[in-house]
Amino acid sequence: MKIETTPAPGINETVRNIIILDTTLRDGEQAPGCSMNPREKLEVARRLEKLGVDVIEAGFPASSPGDLESVRAIAEIVKDSTVAGLCRSLEKDIDAGRRALEKAAHPRIHIFLATSPIHMQWKLKMTEDQVLEQTAAAVKYAKKFCSDVEFSAEDAFRSDPDFVCTVFGAAIKAGALTVNFPDTVGYALPGEFGERIRYVREHTPGMEKARLSVHCHNDLGLAVANSLAAIVSGADQAECTLNGIGERAGNASLEEIVMSLRLRKESLKADTRIDATRIYGASRLVSQVTGVKVQPNKAIVGENAFVHEAGIHQHGVMANRETYEIMTPESVGISKSQMILGKHSGRHAFEDRLKLLGFSVDGETLEKIFAEFKDLADKKKTVNDRDIEALVMGAAAAAPETWKLDHWAVNTGSALGASGTIRLQHKDGAYRKLVSLGDGPIDSIYKAINQIIGREPELELYEIGAITGGSASQGETMVKIVWDDRRYNGRGVSTDVIESSIKAYLAAVNAMEYELARKTAE
Ligand code: KIV
Ligand code: ZN
Repeated sequence: MKIETTPAPGINETVRNIIILDTTLRDGEQAPGCSMNPREKLEVARRLEKLGVDVIEAGFPASSPGDLESVRAIAEIVKDSTVAGLCRSLEKDIDAGRRALEKAAHPRIHIFLATSPIHMQWKLKMTEDQVLEQTAAAVKYAKKFCSDVEFSAEDAFRSDPDFVCTVFGAAIKAGALTVNFPDTVGYALPGEFGERIRYVREHTPGMEKARLSVHCHNDLGLAVANSLAAIVSGADQAECTLNGIGERAGNASLEEIVMSLRLRKESLKADTRIDATRIYGASRLVSQVTGVKVQPNKAIVGENAFVHEAGIHQHGVMANRETYEIMTPESVGISKSQMILGKHSGRHAFEDRLKLLGFSVDGETLEKIFAEFKDLADKKKTVNDRDIEALVMGAAAAAPETWKLDHWAVNTGSALGASGTIRLQHKDGAYRKLVSLGDGPIDSIYKAINQIIGREPELELYEIGAITGGSASQGETMVKIVWDDRRYNGRGVSTDVIESSIKAYLAAVNAMEYELARKTAE
């Protein structure tokens, strides 16, 4: 894809196009509790491409063979967005990045090196001259394999501004097409961040030959404000994540930057190419695969973002939505469709609904989801969008089933302990059945599963909720298990809460088994 900075299509000449680099799969995934398995990462990458993200930062290839493989798999399928891999300024990292991006239609190697006194002294143990030299050498090395090279000065905001300009100048001279100015620790205030970006723009030698990017963290809750201030000061690219996930308090949120620009483009003189109507679906996907819920009052994508509770507000909205709404829910992809599916709905209606919700599933996955939909429609009178979303998420990004649920039963009561019986089928076809006692139905069943699989992972998170209201609603369970210092997520959905708990645990177990088998094969 050719990345353009000015102007965005259909936008008048004075409105610049801001390049959106999404780092949900790298900086976002690095955050505690946000890990994704390779299939989930692929699913998210597909969604980012459809969303119209200009650059997808797919991972940090040198950090582990698994990460390299994930970046490689994403690079193979993504055609419309640039795919970037993050690398330290080391030849071995750049080699890993090159291998991971070999098949990318539009590869980008993203190199970083810290420039702040505290990072240079305590982390890198390097002098300014050494940092300068290593920057130029790394960019030159990366340019041998990839024309699109980005250089980031880690902790740029706490660095000497003139030193950053010198380092950026060296990176541009060595061939970097983008130089990125991160506020790595989220310390900046909007006014000063904007001024700093203007300064760097004006004082970096050769800046006219490269794009200036910003990457803001949210430790003071100012990541989006700082990114917008930088855009006003001339930044060409904004780095961000869906739902704002990322290290500590997270990164600047994609949806907030995009909608601020979309709604206020005349003031900010900038917009993006993002298809805003796909924002909500993409946000839901990230929340589902990471198991990290979006706070209800989160701007744009939170459950309450378009809910009006106070009578006076409701009255106003009924008379004219614009009294209390600056954008419509539909403009960010929150569908208000009244079309409810039920057991008489046919395949066409179901497939149309999937498309409308932004999913593209076919083949075996579609067969599986359609069968589950029919099953659900038998149990529940109406099936709404959230139910369908839950079915798709369960099937599309799940790891292959090493263990499959055959049947289960529990015995429990207020005066009794609980006993759980479960029968699982292994992928080799054999059945295993076990009965176990426990402190409640879930505990007894999970213990039985552990005995069958021969491992006892730590259950770090167990959360259960209802997908929609009403007693016939589906229960949705999220679990996170830890084995060998790695976390695996699982989701389960069923009209029976014990069954949704079993499905969630098995999904996490299957993700774990898949990863362990992959590691053994390496
Ligand atoms: O926050 C940061 O400085 C980063 C860089 C590696 C771009 O994530
Ligand atoms: Zn970061």
